[in-house]
Formats: sequence, structure tokens, C-alpha cells
Amino acid sequence: MTTIVGISGSLRKGSFNSSLLRAAAESMPAGAELTIGSIRGIPLYDADVEEATGVPDVVVALKEKIVAADGLLLVTPEYNNSLPGVFKNAIDWLSRPPTDIPRVFGDRPVGVIGASPGGFGTLLSQTAWLPVLKTLGTRAFFGARLQVSRAGSVFDASGKLVDAQVHEQLRKYLAGFVKFVAA
Ligand SMILES: Cc1cc2nc3c(=O)[nH]c(=O)nc-3n(C[C@H](O)[C@H](O)[C@H](O)COP(=O)(O)O)c2cc1C
Repeated sequence: MTTIVGISGSLRKGSFNSSLLRAAAESMPAGAELTIGSIRGIPLYDADVEEATGVPDVVVALKEKIVAADGLLLVTPEYNNSLPGVFKNAIDWLSRPPTDIPRVFGDRPVGVIGASPGGFGTLLSQTAWLPVLKTLGTRAFFGARLQVSRAGSVFDASGKLVDAQVHEQLRKYLAGFVKFVAA
């Protein structure tokens, strides 16, 4: 069984990216499974807090979830043509202490997908993640792309993925990513 942990970079209740992540969990190829991790409850990074009390439990729990999985899928919104601060903050905490980076991120297969109500489907946000993934020593997946644009018509009011074409693109992305992770 190939295991992936997926994380949405949005805290919004009706988040398109969280909807995309749930759709991904339901669209995995045979022999693979996606579990959902969350950035909820992760405080703003503060080096004084880290020095005084260490890495918060909520961060440690997410780190161990990542370590236990074979691959990591980031489902990212786009804010101001870049990655969202709350998501980057979570990854920054997850990269502490630096001595743990090889265990958590080193050579880890990582995929990035995302959804936006606009026309470019998080293209610039996905691009902005690349230096972060490089710095952390991950093995980024470049075998397919999934940029979900016009998200308002791709998901229904309950967050269900209702666009058949996007669903097919998602299935293809996941099949390619799982193959990459398992290799
Ligand atoms: C501060 C801010 C900046 C944004 N900038 C962009 C942007 O550059 N490109 C884009 O496509 N959407 C942008 N948006 C719109 C988001 O794509 C939209 O709010 C989306 O629903 C966020 O993802 P979510 O649905 O998963 O929460 C921005 C939204 C906010 C709040």
C-alpha cells in the first residue's frame, strides 16, 4: 500500500482547496491511500516560543504523520500571486528543529496541486513553492500538473467535485504521483 498524506493550505470552511483534497482522497488509484492532515491550530512561528517550550504538539503530530507516509501532497491556494502565509507558516514550523528536516522532508516525494476561482488555477502559488521544496531537500513531482481554475463552478455548494473533466485530471495526476512515490 502506498500512503500519501495530503494537507490543504486553507482554513476556510468552504475552501476549494480542502474540497480538492477530499476529492483526491476519494480518487486514489488501487493500492494507494490518502489521509488528510491539517494546519489548523498551528500557531504563528515564534523562535522565542520554540526556545522556551519547543515545537508545539500539533506540529509534532503533523510531522509524525508526514514521516509515517510515503509521500506528501500540498493542496495550495494562491494569495497575491504567491503561496499563502498560513500554509508557509505551517511548513516553517514543520521544518523545526533543522536537524529533523532530513527525516521529515529529505528525499520525500512531494506533489503540489491547487484550486482558485480565477483563471490561472494557482499557477504562481505552485511555482512559489518550488524554492521551499528545494531548500527542504524534497523530491518534487514534476510528472503532471493540476491547476484547477474557475473553482466556483468545479465544486458544488457542499464542496463536492462536480466537474467531470477536472475529476479525470485529478485521477491522472494522482495515478502519476503514486507511481512516482512508489518507485
Ligand atoms: C489575500 C488574498 C489574496 C488573493 N490573491 C489571489 C491571487 O493572487 N490569485 C488567485 O487566483 N486568487 C487569489 N485570491 C483568491 C483565492 O484564490 C480565493 O480566496 C480562494 O477561494 C482561496 O482558496 P480556498 O477556497 O481554498 O480558501 C486571494 C485571496 C486572498 C484572501
